[in-house]
Amino acid sequence: MFAVHLMAFYFTKLKEDQIKKVDRFLYHMRLSDETLLDVVARFQAEMQKGLGKDTNPTASVKMLPTFVRAIPDGSENGEFLSLDLGGSKFRVLKVQVSEEGKRNVQMESQFYPTPNEIIRGNGTELFEYVADCLADFMKTKELMQKKLPLGLTFSFPCKQTKLEEGVLLSWTKKFKARGVQGTDVVSSLTNAMRKHKDLDVDILALVNDTVGTMMTCAYDDPYCEVGVIIGTGTNACYMEDMSNIELVEGDEGRMCINTEWGAFGDDGALEDIRTEFDRELDLGSLNPGKQLFEKMISGLYLGELVRLILLKMAKAGLLFGGEKSSALHIKGKIETRHVAAMEKYKEGLANTREILTDLGLEPSEADCVAVQHVCTIVSFRSANLCAAALAAILTRLRENKKLARLRTTVGMDGTLYKIHPQYPKRLHKVVRKLVPNCDVRFLLSESGSTKGAAMVTAVASRVQAQRKQIDKVLALFRLTREQLVGVRDKMRVELEYGLKRDTHPLATVKMLPTYVCGMPDGTEKGKFLALDLGGTNFRVLLVKIRSGRRSVRMYNKIFAIPLEIMQGTGEELFDHIVQCIADFLDYMGLKGAQLPLGFTFSFPCRQAGIDKGTLIEWTKGFKATDCEGEDVVDMLREAIKRRNEFDLDIVAVVNDTVGTMMTCGYEDRNCEVGLIAGTGSNMCYMEEMRNIELVEGDEGKMCINTEWGGFGDNGCLDDIRTQYDKEVDEGSLNPGKQRYEKMTSGMYLGEIVRQILIDLTKQGLLFRGQISERLRTRGIFETKFLSQIESDRLALLQVRRILQQLGLDSTCEDSIVVKEVCGAVSQRAAELYGAGLAAVVEKRREDQGFEHLKITVGVDGTLYKLHPHFSRILQETVKELAPRCDVTFMLSEDGSGKGAALITAVAKRLQQARREN
Ligand code: BG6
Ligand code: BG6
Ligand code: GLC
Ligand code: GLC
Repeated sequence: MFAVHLMAFYFTKLKEDQIKKVDRFLYHMRLSDETLLDVVARFQAEMQKGLGKDTNPTASVKMLPTFVRAIPDGSENGEFLSLDLGGSKFRVLKVQVSEEGKRNVQMESQFYPTPNEIIRGNGTELFEYVADCLADFMKTKELMQKKLPLGLTFSFPCKQTKLEEGVLLSWTKKFKARGVQGTDVVSSLTNAMRKHKDLDVDILALVNDTVGTMMTCAYDDPYCEVGVIIGTGTNACYMEDMSNIELVEGDEGRMCINTEWGAFGDDGALEDIRTEFDRELDLGSLNPGKQLFEKMISGLYLGELVRLILLKMAKAGLLFGGEKSSALHIKGKIETRHVAAMEKYKEGLANTREILTDLGLEPSEADCVAVQHVCTIVSFRSANLCAAALAAILTRLRENKKLARLRTTVGMDGTLYKIHPQYPKRLHKVVRKLVPNCDVRFLLSESGSTKGAAMVTAVASRVQAQRKQIDKVLALFRLTREQLVGVRDKMRVELEYGLKRDTHPLATVKMLPTYVCGMPDGTEKGKFLALDLGGTNFRVLLVKIRSGRRSVRMYNKIFAIPLEIMQGTGEELFDHIVQCIADFLDYMGLKGAQLPLGFTFSFPCRQAGIDKGTLIEWTKGFKATDCEGEDVVDMLREAIKRRNEFDLDIVAVVNDTVGTMMTCGYEDRNCEVGLIAGTGSNMCYMEEMRNIELVEGDEGKMCINTEWGGFGDNGCLDDIRTQYDKEVDEGSLNPGKQRYEKMTSGMYLGEIVRQILIDLTKQGLLFRGQISERLRTRGIFETKFLSQIESDRLALLQVRRILQQLGLDSTCEDSIVVKEVCGAVSQRAAELYGAGLAAVVEKRREDQGFEHLKITVGVDGTLYKLHPHFSRILQETVKELAPRCDVTFMLSEDGSGKGAALITAVAKRLQQARREN
């Protein structure tokens, strides 16, 4: 009995002595609570640094956005392939996520070896190997004929700009394949898979193992918002508020951040904690100076740390009687599984003896106790450090949510955490001590990270399907070159039809003679009034032309024309116009002055002379009664008479295209085309008199107002018109009319956009499927808003703000789609304009028998002026479709009022000459 007591006493004493000895030796590895709290604070600062746009480039903890935006909600389903590469084992899996609601996942998997020559060889060969394994798996499981989406768990730091792409920042752990760093691993694997002709796999998601783990656990516990790996390597991810992630546009919701905490300390932040053993281990590693935090914690390194310590202690005569075995000198001889075995509660001591003996040592009882304690200190430090970093993440989550107490779940995985007998307990305890205001549940991911990766892939595949639907709609607006050539050629036919006497009555492009026969020659002079009606603004102008100098002075005032007047009676409209003239004359101090007047009237008029214009029909937003079929000059004269306050000499009525051509022609004599891309769409040009069968005479040229807005009214554009164009047409003031205009001009582009958005919303692809009152409102997307939305300088948040100002409550995702829709619609408009214009300049070139034509086009209109891409696309298209014409575009800065005044001046001069004869 006494002997037993003596033995026990002896052993306790021995144990105490050994522990004290080791404690003393490894004093530096034992971290106090104070130190741990300090590490928490340091890691908090690191996270902040990694998240900041300006600070990220120099941050060692990279805080990588993962583009995983939500945890599973149970609606995921489908069949997926999965690869799990980068942990201690490489696996290929098939994951079946069952029908909605049941949360049932079935997996079949196969492990494949990862020999060193593959993971440290050539990058291309590594990916080929992975593709071979995948092909083998699919053959064994008879999946070859199926097209399955694949989620790739790739457990290395990758910079992602979207879910299905990731540039490897650096290899960590045991991998070091050449030529992969800095390249996108998804495309590398995709390329490698191409070698297998019978493999049809789409990689939809790239996820880090921490993310896979978090998602796996979140599938079972919706509180899970953190994923931690303590395995070969160590790392964590968590859900961060988008508003804190400066590297990704958008501020609503959350996104998972892969912290890559393994690199904590790479900038020297942990030097005071690192020991000589850490430094030695680092020097002998594949990536010296990198992953310093990981090297104090994870499975790949713990055994080696123990070995280095034992070696040093043996050298110092503190162990094995100063004897060192040769095995103890060999790197990697002690592995983490040995550490775990030595720390086992009951068999630990026996295991220790066995392991040391296997290393060729002859340990005493005291040695075994001491070695066991070394293991404890090393693995305890590991758990402490992990706990500190995790505590920082939990604190951040709690603060983000502005909660006094946080209830949360952490998904856990990794062999060290799983096989080490004390590790989980220690970790949990320290975390709870460091963040007493968090109720943390630790949930072990039993099935690895693949289930989670499949969830991410499921969401990605749903998004991809939606994307396809959106692309299908937008594809309707993408015209091929052949289609554009077709439009150009049809336009050419219509131009000829309109000019010919026989075909003119039925022509949809009306080709109206304007009786404007020449360009100003610089001798024009005098003071003129001008009206400019039919564009965005109604203006009254006073234009003073000085002869010889080609200089013009203008004064103008914008007046509103209320909707009820635009769509009231003709008398009301013209009375209103005269009222505005009266106000203007008053304002200019010209009351009673009898000035010649040029009337820019931007609607189709059949002219029998320069001062006669019968309105054929209203277009755009006008619909005043009793005007169609009437001479608008007469209507204006009568209104002036009705007012009986002043008299005006109405000399010319001019379409805005003609006014624009004249304005520009005053400066550039080559200007023989006038183009409007504004509220409406139209073009005029100088045509040979001999081609104009409706007007007598063959000499010289006359300007033709094409009224090309009516192009397509005979159905000749039906092959490219979409359902949305038809809806816009049906909702307009003039259904069936001006079909080309309705596909191209500012008044309608926004409406087309609106129709598409309504349809996408109905399909559940936008605005959460909710069609708001606002979206039902006509005319909300004015040209200026389209132009703003499409501006390249605008960040996503600004686009969203514009949409919000328009009353459309959109997410950032919605904003991206809206911007794309606007882009598709305006691009088509610009291309159609280009095709139309190409037809005209080609006609002019051929008519004059030139090999090459140099011509200037005067342009005006808010679409052309405000839209960020319209003018460029228009010009490029003309170049493409009329390659033998050298077209210069000249923006009309002064509007068409100036041109109208010039035309008036010329007409006045001719009038005078006629009178004098
Ligand atoms: C596995 C996961 O369970 O754990 C892997 O499926 C992960 O994705 C691995 O990389 C991490 O642990 P270890 O110990 O294998 O590196
Ligand atoms: C103006 C012209 O500059 O542009 C008008 O003076 C023309 O005559 C107008 O109608 C066309 O553009 P919008 O965008 O105002 O219809
Ligand atoms: C390494 C990798 C990291 C991974 C971790 C756990 O730290 O860099 O991406 O999550 O190991 O496998
Ligand atoms: C409409 C009018 C046309 C005008 C054009 C641009 O198409 O019918 O006359 O030139 O709009 O304002």
